[in-house]
Parts: sequence; C-alpha cells; structure tokens
Amino acid sequence: MPVPGDVTDPAWVRQVVGTVVETLGGLDVLVNNAGVGLRAPVARLSPDDLHRVLAVNLLGPLHCTQEVLPYFRRQGEGLVINISSLAGVLPVPFLGGYSASKHALVALFRCLRAELRADGVRVMLVHPGSVDTDFRRHALGLPYPERRRSSRVGADRVAEVVARAAEAGREEVFTAWSDRALLTVARVVPRLAERVLLRRYGPDPAEDR
Ligand SMILES: NC(=O)c1ccc[n+]([C@@H]2O[C@H](COP(=O)([O-])OP(=O)(O)OC[C@H]3O[C@@H](n4cnc5c(N)ncnc54)[C@H](OP(=O)(O)O)[C@@H]3O)[C@@H](O)[C@H]2O)c1
Repeated sequence: MPVPGDVTDPAWVRQVVGTVVETLGGLDVLVNNAGVGLRAPVARLSPDDLHRVLAVNLLGPLHCTQEVLPYFRRQGEGLVINISSLAGVLPVPFLGGYSASKHALVALFRCLRAELRADGVRVMLVHPGSVDTDFRRHALGLPYPERRRSSRVGADRVAEVVARAAEAGREEVFTAWSDRALLTVARVVPRLAERVLLRRYGPDPAEDR
C-alpha cells in the first residue's frame, strides 16, 4: 500500500502510521530507509545542505520511530530497521555532513536499542558500503566521483541480507565483507583507512577543494 510523503513532516508521519494500523490491522516492522547523500569538503559545507541531510537522515527516522513505538510497546514486540551506512561508523572525508548525519543516527538508535530491550522491541542498524542505486545522482553538494567499486552491491542483495539478519535477530549488519574489513583496518591502522577513503571520495584533479 504505497503512500507517498515526506518523513521530515511529523504530521504526515502520524497520519500514515495511523492509516497503516487502521487498514492493515497492526504493524510489525518499521524500515527507516529514506536518505539523502551530501558530498562537500567540510571547509565549504553548506549549512542549508547539512540541515536538509540531518532532517531526512536523522529526524525522519526519529519521527517515524516515535510514531510506531506506542503500537510496538503495546503488543510487546516490533522491529525497527535503520538503513545507516558505512559512513555512520567510519568518518568519510569529503562526505563529512552525510557521515555526521549517519553517525548521529547510529548513536541515537544504539541508545534506543538499550532503552527498549525490556519492552521486547528490537532495533537493527544496517551499514551498507556502496549500493548500486541512484543515490549518488540524487545527492546534494558536489557530484560523487564515478569511480566504479568492486565492493558495490545490488539493492536486492542488501534486502536479502537485511531479511536474513532480521530473522536471525542480529543487531548490527554489514552488507559486504570488504566493508567490515575496512572498519577493522580503520581501528588498527586509521591512516591507511583514511587513504582508502580519500581515494574513493576525494577531489578529482579538476575539483576546487
Ligand atoms: N546507495 C548507496 O551507495 C548507499 C550506501 C550506504 C547507505 N545508503 C543508504 O541507503 C538508503 C537508501 O538510499 P538509496 O541508495 O536507495 O538512494 P536513492 O536511490 O537516492 O533513494 C533514496 C530514497 O529515499 C527517499 N527519500 C528521500 N528523501 C525523502 C523524504 N524527505 N521523505 C521520504 N522519502 C524520502 C527517496 O524518495 P523519492 O525518490 O520519492 O525522492 C528514495 O526513495 C539511504 O538511507 C542511504 O543513506 C545508500
């Protein structure tokens, strides 16, 4: 039952959650997937772009989650799935605003997970690296570099991994082994991970830094 709308609008979120419960008789899973990218050096990050990215990537999931929680709590179960990003667990240069929004999302929902454990409501965080969608084309700020990545996965692969992880009761989910490997490298040799990420998202020679 597709219902178009804007997750940054709390009134729409309230209305759509009410409609879903009324029409379908309940709610079991919320997937916070809506998101917008932003590529810009922090030195020239536009506050307006950052506001927009925080509104969609952080406040959107908060509005949606706060609306469904009373239903989940009442029934003593429910699952909130957040599509975060590898940029939510690794600071990615030239994606600073986006990375900040996803780091904030991760912190907020890890806190919520602990707060809800006693209520039987589960919170999952998904950290995809690069997914083959129009995300880069829709992003704000500078164009994303078109550097083809061997670790890029399809959206169907992400959906499959998430569905399996939900059934297995997992809380933190990666969608490619190489993303998890890069996170480990970042913990042990942070400057090496920084170099890899700069090569992926850093400026092209023609770009103004
Ligand atoms: N693609 C990647 O490489 C990648 C990597 C890591 C994480 N992610 C995350 O994956 C999630 C999905 O992104 P994607 O790759 O599928 O990108 P996408 O193709 O650009 O899709 C983004 C989706 O978010 C929706 N959306 C944007 N703003 C919205 C708003 N204010 N209210 C409601 N819906 C809104 C868009 O709807 P409309 O089309 O109607 O605007 C679209 O369906 C995002 O959270 C993104 O941060 C993506």
